[in-house]
Amino acid sequence: MSEPRSRAVSGGAGAPGDRSPSEPAGGPVPDADEALRLARRRFFREMASDAVRAAATLAGAAGALRQTTEEMASSVLADGGVGGGVGAAANPAAGAAPPPPDAPGGFRSPFRLEAERLVLVDQRRLPDELVDVVCESAGDVAQAIREMVVRGAPALGQVAAAGLALAARRAIAARPYARRAILRGSANALVNARPTAVSVRWATSRMLARYAEVGELLDDGPAVAAALRAEAEAIIAEATADHAMMAGLGAGLLPVPDGRPLRLLTHCNTGPLACGQVGTALGVVQALAADGREVHVYVDETRPWLQGARLTAWELGQAGIPHTILADAAAGWLLARGEVDAILVGADRIAANGDTANKIGTYPLAVLAARHGVPFYFVAPTATIDDEALDGAAIPVEMRSPAEVTACAGRRVAPAGTDALNPSFDITPAELITAIVTEAGVLRPPYGPAIEAAIAWREARRPAPDPAPDGPVEPASPAPAEPPPAPPATA
Ligand code: MRU
Repeated sequence: MSEPRSRAVSGGAGAPGDRSPSEPAGGPVPDADEALRLARRRFFREMASDAVRAAATLAGAAGALRQTTEEMASSVLADGGVGGGVGAAANPAAGAAPPPPDAPGGFRSPFRLEAERLVLVDQRRLPDELVDVVCESAGDVAQAIREMVVRGAPALGQVAAAGLALAARRAIAARPYARRAILRGSANALVNARPTAVSVRWATSRMLARYAEVGELLDDGPAVAAALRAEAEAIIAEATADHAMMAGLGAGLLPVPDGRPLRLLTHCNTGPLACGQVGTALGVVQALAADGREVHVYVDETRPWLQGARLTAWELGQAGIPHTILADAAAGWLLARGEVDAILVGADRIAANGDTANKIGTYPLAVLAARHGVPFYFVAPTATIDDEALDGAAIPVEMRSPAEVTACAGRRVAPAGTDALNPSFDITPAELITAIVTEAGVLRPPYGPAIEAAIAWREARRPAPDPAPDGPVEPASPAPAEPPPAPPATA
């Protein structure tokens, strides 16, 4: 894993005029900064309305949306706000000359899969610095996942798939048995890197299933590599279409207050940085904004990694959506004052009974929502459902280093040697959840049958990668209460 380039991020949450130490003396001229900021804002707005259009127009949504957003990103980056951008060099479709080495960076999806490498935005350094991290192997990708360079359950599934595509590419000349060991070992390393986010297991299982289809002991290394590359690209494209679908469905659930903005509360980060494109809970917010609805988003800062304060505030700022950050512990105060109309969050793993794991601090929000009669929604693709986990007790909760709690933004805040507990996720019991928005439809209680139907839908769209030992899931009746929409087109 290497870090080739570092850029100051202009238009981020840092104070105007903030400069990274790596920025050239003088930095970009103010007009260039302003032009880049406006270009990014336009990009986000257009991306959000595209998401909604794609949700409405199902045929070809995945490819079309991906292409459009890539083109828009490329043009923003190619402009670089007049100076050239980091992404333009690597995107031949942009037709742009390589950027000058010290050109300012710009917004983009958190990763870019090239022929022989995966380029990640180092999310630990946002919002103040845009730093590329290059992964050349599945091991690099696993390390980047473990170290939070890339995070957010949907993005993790997509980069894990990309990691296996890289592994197959590097193993082109390997003997079949060696290739099989490499691919299986890589899949294990990726799954173990962040154990709660089941989308990593889902994506790697699907990649291995494709490998099995092609022939695990096939001698033709290039054919295996090409098939796994195509599968990774399909996973990424489908995620884009699925998230667009959820954005439209979620937006349709929310009330239209009279004469004032809709007030939403969210936790952690669920926008394009966490999801590849569009987003889950934040995708819904972007769909509302694209529809011209007035929204105000309260953003929990989300200790200890501050994904809310650093990333969600940055994305909402880029999109021009009004927002306010608050300490996690202040949410109860806000809810008690009646100042939140709904809570929207993403999910890392949904058990068969609807119990749902998400960023630590989600469960107390759900308790508060129930106490104050505020609807509480999860927005998550069906790849987040783990029907092997019968309930929340079966979901593994990742425990991270105590040092993440005893320090804040890289500075120790607790007395040296203090012990700390650092569960990265908590489990919200199904009974506290108003609805779960998936690309297969809006799931309502009782969640057991609704989740079964959503899984049947998912597996009908594409055969289950890893059937349970006692055979594939029986066809189920549609999810109760609200039938799933027509399935989005797969790439
Ligand atoms: O530890 P993170 O930053 O990977 O946690 C992310 C979250 O908990 C998100 O809410 C979740 O992945 C759901 S949608 C992106």
